[in-house]
Amino acid sequence: MKVGVIQFAPEFGDVTGNMTRILALIEREDADLFVLPELALSGYVFESRAEALALAQRADGPEFDAPALLAREKGATIVLGFAERASEGLYNSSLMLTPDGRREVYRKIQLFYREKEIFLPGNMPPSVHDVAGVRLGMMICFDWIYPEVARSLALAGADILCHCSNLVLPYCPDAMVTRSIENRVFSMTANRIGSEKRAGEDLTFIGMSEIVSPRGEILARAGTDTEEVVVVDIAPEAARDKAVTPNNDILNDRRPDMYRLS
Ligand code: ACM
Repeated sequence: MKVGVIQFAPEFGDVTGNMTRILALIEREDADLFVLPELALSGYVFESRAEALALAQRADGPEFDAPALLAREKGATIVLGFAERASEGLYNSSLMLTPDGRREVYRKIQLFYREKEIFLPGNMPPSVHDVAGVRLGMMICFDWIYPEVARSLALAGADILCHCSNLVLPYCPDAMVTRSIENRVFSMTANRIGSEKRAGEDLTFIGMSEIVSPRGEILARAGTDTEEVVVVDIAPEAARDKAVTPNNDILNDRRPDMYRLS
């Protein structure tokens, strides 16, 4: 199976232009799965909730018809981040478009910094979607710092974590190596590049999009400021082998009766 992370710099506010760019980047390479950054259509730093609302989409909206068609034509699954307009408010979400026409949504659970002023926190537990026998889980950026999110996905059977990101802190690329090792799953972190200076913020996004194996090998890592589509070949069934040694199964050996989690 070929999987790719797409790293680029969305232009703030240019939803149509960003979608055109995304479609061109996907067209460029062949893969069975593409993961793109968080908020890939709108950009990241919003002045207000009203501004974010104006740049938001519904998951079933017509804006996603073109990438859905591309997913069908290429036989590829596409996962991208967007500002989701729901009846009760806005979510920082990712959308999975499958070759057989499904649109699966994940709503970011762990909001970062001023996202809390704009978005509602995700209201659905992370779930796993079977696409042609491969089990895909979604998480978004700052979700990485709570090991519970990746663990929930692993316990739900994920082979691959599709991690749409807009990283500004330096820790995540190395931390995702640990998320992969401790769950024996592949992780695909698609981060953006560039910077946004608006609403009193000056944020630079760190790039370094990466694909990590269940043994923590960094199969590919992009640069810090280059637009890139990075594709690697993986055997997703490697994520089903949870044996660290013949005597240590990473999930079955957990001792929940010994952990104080609240
Ligand atoms: C982040 O969650 N966008 C850092």
